[in-house]
Amino acid sequence: MTPSLKALDARSDGLIARAAEIAKFQGGKKDFLDLVVPAKLELDRLFVLGLGTSAKYTESDWLALGGRIRARLSSGKVTAADVLLERTDGEPVSARNAALVALGAILRGYDFRKYKKKKKKENGEEEEDLDTLSSLRILYQNPEDATAILENRSGVAEGILLARDLVNEPPNVLSPEEFASRVSALSSSGLEVEILDQKALAEIGMNALLAVGQGSVRPSCVAIMRWTGAADRDEKPLLLVGKGVCFDTGGISIKPAAGMEDMKGDMGGAAAVTGAMLALAKRKAQVNAVGIIGLTENMPSGTAQRPGDIVTTLSGQTVEVINTDAEGRLVLADIMWYGQERFHPRAMITLATLTGAIIIALGKDHAGMFSNNDALAEQLFKAGGDSGEKVWRLPLNEKYDKLISSKVADMKNVGGREAGSITAAQFLQRFVMPDIPWAHLDIAGTAMSAPATDINRSWGSGYGVMLLDRLASEFYES
Ligand code: BES
Ligand code: MN
Ligand code: ZN
Repeated sequence: MTPSLKALDARSDGLIARAAEIAKFQGGKKDFLDLVVPAKLELDRLFVLGLGTSAKYTESDWLALGGRIRARLSSGKVTAADVLLERTDGEPVSARNAALVALGAILRGYDFRKYKKKKKKENGEEEEDLDTLSSLRILYQNPEDATAILENRSGVAEGILLARDLVNEPPNVLSPEEFASRVSALSSSGLEVEILDQKALAEIGMNALLAVGQGSVRPSCVAIMRWTGAADRDEKPLLLVGKGVCFDTGGISIKPAAGMEDMKGDMGGAAAVTGAMLALAKRKAQVNAVGIIGLTENMPSGTAQRPGDIVTTLSGQTVEVINTDAEGRLVLADIMWYGQERFHPRAMITLATLTGAIIIALGKDHAGMFSNNDALAEQLFKAGGDSGEKVWRLPLNEKYDKLISSKVADMKNVGGREAGSITAAQFLQRFVMPDIPWAHLDIAGTAMSAPATDINRSWGSGYGVMLLDRLASEFYES
């Protein structure tokens, strides 16, 4: 039997009710009680957190609640805690929602401090937010139900935390090859991993991807992850394609110095794909999925590509490189083509920190979405609303497509100042094979430099993992 707040109150001779009255605690979302060594209870401390109207909670609200619980415990320097979830109407909190609370607490607990070696500040004070919590239990009436769901959700949590780690890692550490070796390590989770090294890419003919990396001393590579979980092993897979530019200086068309350090996160699409593939494997999703990520580094040097260069992509189409800073689309063009040719996907989704323009258009609350298929766009829109990782669709059409025609090649890699996110997507669409439902997510605003939320305090958000996981579970699992 899990205890109830009422029973605790009775045991403490009405202490909790009295404290609530004095503190004007009414169970609202901002209401909070902190009772230290409450009389007659064998507890060191009792926190009471108001939920507001939990009957109206969405899934993201349950997640956020888990985050708020975790934050309260951390700031109280608590080492172990039991959490009792209770509704005032007496209805039990569902196992699914209890598991979401646990997931929210896990996500909020993430902190990227592996390179912070000093535990004390200059003035001798301890660094704040040192998370002391080592055990958190959510009490639940039927632990069997909740445990199964929690195991499933913790698979997703692992994927999200992996994606955050990858985005947060500094660019000297996370080279294309280091990224690939972290992907290889995931084979222990049941993913089939294949790495195509730079030599293999040259043999295949991924010249556009290689052109981006040719200015770097660090070789480019491509990682392929496969998860075969559908009852029919031969069912066509969902293909996830991610931009993995481990650092984007802009190349010869170099970026301004201010904020350039943020371009360590230009592999956010690849991180989302990797995290999502791990999540699918960890929760043994009944779906076939393939993740392909193009890993490279965009550097200026004597061997870098020049504005004016014309490259022949794997598809055979040629591209006049006007601006070497529009490199992500070159990387994606080749791996999209490769993925479609080899895996014949039932749908393809590209994820990339592709344009600064999408941040101007949508800010940080929605990723930009582009699609050649209304049904797929609807599915992503729904999965976005349900997971809290939202997308907003922007248009594609021939007029925008014309903006990237070139006088000397099949296309150029930039379309001018107007509609920068759309012309980038038009470029990608030229590498979509006939009859393949495709959606592109521009996650430049959502993957990195993330605003603080109840479930994330880190620079890298892990955006995309929950969305893709949700898309799979809602629409593509058998
Ligand atoms: N990686 C950048 C886009 C980006 C900018 C991501 C800011 C996250 C934050 C991309 O490679 C890029 O440089 N895009 C250019 C395109 C332009 C040259 C047409 C841009 O957005 O300025
Ligand atoms: Mn760039
Ligand atoms: Zn880039």
